[in-house]
Amino acid sequence: MSFTVQPAGPARPNRCQLFGPATRPTIFEKMAASAADVINIDLEDSVAPADKAAARTTAIEAVNDVDWGAKTLSVRINGLDTGFWHHDVIDLIEKTGDRLDLIMIPKVGNAKDIYAVDALVSACEQAARKSKRIGFEVLIETAAGAQNVGEIAAASPRIQSMSFGVADYAASMGMNVTGIGGTQDDYHMLANDEGRTVNMVDPWHYPIARMVAACRQHGVLPVDGPFGDFSDDEGFLAQAKRSATLGCVGKWAIHPKQVALANRVFTPTPAKVEHARRILAAMRAAEEGGQGAAVLDGKLIDLASSRQARVIVTQAELIEAAGG
Ligand code: COA
Ligand code: MG
Repeated sequence: MSFTVQPAGPARPNRCQLFGPATRPTIFEKMAASAADVINIDLEDSVAPADKAAARTTAIEAVNDVDWGAKTLSVRINGLDTGFWHHDVIDLIEKTGDRLDLIMIPKVGNAKDIYAVDALVSACEQAARKSKRIGFEVLIETAAGAQNVGEIAAASPRIQSMSFGVADYAASMGMNVTGIGGTQDDYHMLANDEGRTVNMVDPWHYPIARMVAACRQHGVLPVDGPFGDFSDDEGFLAQAKRSATLGCVGKWAIHPKQVALANRVFTPTPAKVEHARRILAAMRAAEEGGQGAAVLDGKLIDLASSRQARVIVTQAELIEAAGG
């Protein structure tokens, strides 16, 4: 470990974030009854410009009136290049009680974006004499956001999580793709075998892996964003498994049927937890015997294996403590 110790992220499950437009109040109770750990009421891109003011009112009513139970509750505000975001922030802080946990800031490009929102939020909280401090969720979904992800992750102690937004990222990068995430048929390599076997490659790997490193460096939870084709369960699961493998703690659901899929992937299986516990036990025995390395099931394990196993066990315990 470096002399600079890596901080732990917020100790709460974030396996699935269920989104819903603020303009659809009929789904709020259904969102609250879902199995998602985090709820995101959206004021941004699922709300038409003409509906922004009405959506703000509905979102505030939803925060105040719906029983959200133990869920982490968040509202996505409009982008900093619009004439809406400051109203979103002021109204959300002035007109809600203490139930709102997070504000999601979309299309963040650099640390100054976070500074601007932090200043406004801090002023509003002070004026409203709020004791609870709102946390931030940050959306990395532009070329600038991807380039500056490190300074963004370090920009404010309010930041709890970061999500990768695949559609806006593709647009900002000028990628020749449509559809929100998933497999891109044109992004593949041909093997040099006789049949020229097609090997699919993941175009989202680089920005997600980079975001995970920025998050982990600064104690922020990394989250994989939306998967638009909600009729493709297999495609969703494959994407979620890739991001879980890279270190993400969860994924968005843009339709209720995706909640169970995300929870399945981001809840360590009993078999994985059991194996991780066997590694920890074997390493404890090895250490007691004066050894830093041991053999388990014919494979080398050492102190790094303990740290890997600890990630899985800690995540399982955190989910268990939150009600499974
Ligand atoms: N949360 C909770 N419940 C939802 C829901 C959501 N996001 N979206 C739909 N439902 C409900 C419907 O009300 C319906 O309930 P019912 O069985 O009681 O009638 C049920 O789930 C099935 O809905 P379905 O008909 O399949 O979907 P739809 O056509 O009503 O809506 C979407 C589909 C994609 C438009 C809608 O899911 C949605 O708005 N998703 C979020 C979009 C968003 O927030 N985007 C911004 C982030 S990328
Ligand atoms: Mg977006």
